[in-house]
Amino acid sequence: MATHRVGLWMYQNSGGTEIERKIVAKLNERNIDVITGLDLNDATAHNGSIFCKGQVMEDLDLFFSYNAGQQGPFQMYLYQTLSSMIPTINNYAAFELTEDKFRTAHLLKTHQIPTADHIVCNKNNIEQVKEHLRFWQGKAICKPVNGWGGNGIIKLESERDLDLLLPYITMQNAPQFYIERVIENDYTDYRIDIVDGKYVACYGRKAAKGSWKTNITSGGCVMKREPTQEVIDLALKAANITGLEVAGVDIIYDIEHQEYVVLEVNGIPAFATPDQEQFGLDFNNTKIDYLCDLIDRTIRHRVDLPTVSSEIGLEIEKPITMPSAVNDIFNADLTGSAAAIIKDKAL
Ligand SMILES: Nc1ncnc2c1ncn2[C@@H]1O[C@H](COP(=O)(O)OP(=O)(O)O)[C@@H](O)[C@H]1O
Ligand SMILES: [Mg+2]
Repeated sequence: MATHRVGLWMYQNSGGTEIERKIVAKLNERNIDVITGLDLNDATAHNGSIFCKGQVMEDLDLFFSYNAGQQGPFQMYLYQTLSSMIPTINNYAAFELTEDKFRTAHLLKTHQIPTADHIVCNKNNIEQVKEHLRFWQGKAICKPVNGWGGNGIIKLESERDLDLLLPYITMQNAPQFYIERVIENDYTDYRIDIVDGKYVACYGRKAAKGSWKTNITSGGCVMKREPTQEVIDLALKAANITGLEVAGVDIIYDIEHQEYVVLEVNGIPAFATPDQEQFGLDFNNTKIDYLCDLIDRTIRHRVDLPTVSSEIGLEIEKPITMPSAVNDIFNADLTGSAAAIIKDKAL
């Protein structure tokens, strides 16, 4: 008889179903029952319990949440609540941190990890960044802090671009304005997959011709890439600092300063898709093994968590109506509208 029970919420597109099947089989081999499809978007909570598809969530020994495409504000809200009751992977605090590019970069900087130079200011006080912009010869990358897939990221070429953008920025629900120094690079990157503090795999992405964004969703393509130990160590450190148990660390090489720079840390890095496996990315089984080891170890050594009162509620932003070109630029202001979009953020 199984002694432990784990809940899973896994993306089903791009080979996710097969990955889920393998995870379930591996955990079953270890005498761990698995309940799949636990989508917290459909859950309710009352009387101190969270109910999802007939499952009392806090009765689970652990919950593994891995579905970037169907994330939503309500699901995040309950994920946060659940994480104060049972172990979750990723742990909510780290996951929520890495959903925000500024907060992640800020933390990495304070730990001397090379990451993009940046400045954030109140969106109603943009004058404050102008000096910085001059220092960067008027050039910068403007990003929504919670974006994905390269969406909403634009390059400012001069101070005038900032002035043109101003009315649209103030219309945004986001309270902040965030820009980064343009890192001179060869338009390729490294994605380092890490599970449980262990290096899993590395591959790269190359931006489409004429583009500077390496995201697959922005036209980029996957490439095989051997990492140096330096790149691996940098990724391991970055993942460790964020606290993510499962992480995908994106790194680019800064040609000007001749150093590797962590661009972002993803909390739901996709497994290789069937196409990518055909192409030669063969890390899925290793990643599944490391993940199952981690789940197994966590539940067997589980000490009951103290009850944590939930400190912060997730701010729910409403999408705003804007002219379509501007909408394109800012369509990564997703907090209120992400649920239905297939979020290819790991790519
Ligand atoms: N500061 C920067 N300098 C140069 N290129 C950048 C910079 N920031 C982002 N990029 C390019 O844009 C892509 C998307 O940026 P990223 O911060 O990873 O956002 P997303 O979450 O949308 O993937 C990166 O993969 C990289 O190619
Ligand atoms: Mg990215």
